[in-house]
Amino acid sequence: MQSSTAMVDVSPGRHTHGRRCRPPPPLTASLASLSCVVRVLIACEFSGVVRDAFSLRGHDAWSCDLLPTRTPGQHIQGDVLDHLDGSDGHVWDMMIAFPPCTHLTRAAARYWHDPTWRAAQLVDGTFALALWSAPVPKVAIENPPGRLPEFLGRFHQTIQPWQFGHPYTKLTCLWLQGLPPLMDLYHNVGRRSWTEANNPRSHQRSLRRSLTFPGIARAMAEQWG
Ligand SMILES: C[S@@+](CC[C@H](N)C(=O)[O-])C[C@H]1O[C@@H](n2cnc3c(N)ncnc32)[C@H](O)[C@@H]1O
Repeated sequence: MQSSTAMVDVSPGRHTHGRRCRPPPPLTASLASLSCVVRVLIACEFSGVVRDAFSLRGHDAWSCDLLPTRTPGQHIQGDVLDHLDGSDGHVWDMMIAFPPCTHLTRAAARYWHDPTWRAAQLVDGTFALALWSAPVPKVAIENPPGRLPEFLGRFHQTIQPWQFGHPYTKLTCLWLQGLPPLMDLYHNVGRRSWTEANNPRSHQRSLRRSLTFPGIARAMAEQWG
């Protein structure tokens, strides 16, 4: 007959008397989990607006775009799909992505029946889906109302610049994984259409229209960082 001590299994992760015995985590892992620094990839951003909002709060923020960054900062110039696994051997904690919306937005609905336009929609939708499927625990994708739900499913939240301190309307959808909806804390009473104020007759205006509002960037960094 075995002694009573020999019958107690204290191997890691096994049940003993209804309790789960686990070894304590290594010290380095414990310290890492206490750290508040988020390693965040801002995908499809050349302006640096969201990247800088996170950097200002001490986070390890990187923007990535085919274009060079407009403001100095940590930036990867290239195809973001090549960087979803991380950079320099470090994985991302979070990704916030602003994929191209030109062919997906309902503002261009008059072209949706055009086969060439539809082909471009499939390319942009598949690209957004690749971002949505990235091996990153927390993901937010931003796009205007349009065809993206066909690829990602229904969005989780809509936001307006006026909810974040700007006197403008510009309805924007957010798809969220592992992140809570953004809270709107700084309402502005102004309600001018941002699109009408920035009619894209020039390339510069079109680029300007695609920039993230600093108030929304700040809310992302404050609430998600
Ligand atoms: C709607 S704009 C977003 C601009 C962004 N809100 C900002 O403030 O810079 C979409 C951006 O996606 C970038 N882009 C398109 N395909 C990309 C890719 N494969 N990898 C990285 N960036 C890409 C474009 O160059 C463009 O700057």
